[in-house]
Amino acid sequence: DNHHYKLAVAGTGYVGLVAGVCFAEMGHQVTCVDIDEQKVAQMRQGISPIYEAGLQQLMQKNYDEGRIQYTTDYQSAYKDADAIFIGVGTPEKPDGSANLTHIATVARQIAESIENDCLVVVKSTVPVGTNDKVEQFIQDFLVRDVKVEVASNPEFLAQGSAVHDTLYAERIIIGTESEWARALLTSIYEPFDLPIVSVNRRSAEMIKYASNDFLALKISYMNDIANLCELVGADISDVARGMSYDPRIGSKFLNAGIGFGGSCFPKDTKALAYLAGQNGYELRTVRAAIDVNDAQKTMLYKKASERHITLNGLKIAVLGLTFKPGTDDLREAASLVNVPLLLEQGANVVAYDPVGMDNFAKLYPAGAHGNGTMTYASSSKEALDGANVCFIFTEWDEFRALSPAIFTEKMWTPLLYDGRNLFDIADMRKAGVEYHSIGRQPVQRLNQKEGGTREFVLHTT
Ligand code: UDX
Repeated sequence: DNHHYKLAVAGTGYVGLVAGVCFAEMGHQVTCVDIDEQKVAQMRQGISPIYEAGLQQLMQKNYDEGRIQYTTDYQSAYKDADAIFIGVGTPEKPDGSANLTHIATVARQIAESIENDCLVVVKSTVPVGTNDKVEQFIQDFLVRDVKVEVASNPEFLAQGSAVHDTLYAERIIIGTESEWARALLTSIYEPFDLPIVSVNRRSAEMIKYASNDFLALKISYMNDIANLCELVGADISDVARGMSYDPRIGSKFLNAGIGFGGSCFPKDTKALAYLAGQNGYELRTVRAAIDVNDAQKTMLYKKASERHITLNGLKIAVLGLTFKPGTDDLREAASLVNVPLLLEQGANVVAYDPVGMDNFAKLYPAGAHGNGTMTYASSSKEALDGANVCFIFTEWDEFRALSPAIFTEKMWTPLLYDGRNLFDIADMRKAGVEYHSIGRQPVQRLNQKEGGTREFVLHTT
């Protein structure tokens, strides 16, 4: 079957591992390469190093059927590959630019290993123009007389649905500089049966940033409007609903909240703003998206700090630590900004997250942190028990499913700061919860004058 190729994938993070497994699922022969011995040993046993829906099953299936293997031996993986996909990390440097050392390391290993003509495909998000340099770099270090070219093939997978997003992607972006590279990469993707957009290398690199930053901008725009809604008596969820019927606006990514996190939007907005700066241009829209997002992350913390004379000694329940549901990833999560602030103020933080607690505890182990303390609960209910304040940072379904009454039943004072607008305002009012969310009118605690169904008595347990 001429559609099946021998592929190597460098890096087994979200991008590399998911790509490798999906290529195997499509019938290609795949070798995943990572420098981490322990991780490779784990993957050989069919264990996924990341929590991602459906990934483990596909790893197991394709391993059993002999289409995927894992190794630290890059030389043997690269030497006769038809194509090598690079999916290593490009973390951001303090100035917002991308750190390309991992890419460079892999590029050099490729140059020294390949024995056949080979297409090198960069999946990692890299600044526009990087792939020209990667190609030059490989040429410079090339040991044997073989043809090697670099293609850009950015991915658009979202964490939590990475496998699905790869197998059923809306489009495949292929950035190449020769017909040979275009034809080979198109052929590799043929079994996916997805729309392919073929452009030059720099446009492909730009498509990735322009798409991600557009989505980031959309979120920041909604957060900006949400903050104004609060001030003028409007409700952002109704406003978003009204906007969503216009197909030019679209119905997705209109959720106001505690700001965007994750491994892509924060990094990619900064990287593009930096790239613009390097070229003597100020990308004002993207700058604005970054500024709004920075302020948004501490919006509820600021409200809580103003509401109380002190947070010192208060028991504060934190529901949700990950940057979004369906992942154990904490990168750029709102929790990472807010929990340290709460601890600094001397709060006793009791956190609960369905999958993110192990990772969080590596950064903030249970115990004293300055004047504050950090504790981990085994359920939402346990976290809420006796709490003075509750913050919600992640929209896990199990939080959305909480009965409003739980806040009045379990908490010392039912005071909720919801960064994800999980609850209906009317339900919170009915339950007697003081409720602060994003872009919606706050619900003050019930008193008899308002004629509520339940009188709230301070400090009843
Ligand atoms: C994103 C892109 O969706 C994906 O295409 C790209 O390849 C990588 O970056 P990801 O970071 O996994 O994927 O998560 P996503 O679901 O897009 O959410 C990113 C952040 O935005 C989260 O913190 C989320 O809570 C926030 N968000 C998203 C909102 O605040 N409001 C929304 O309406 C949507």
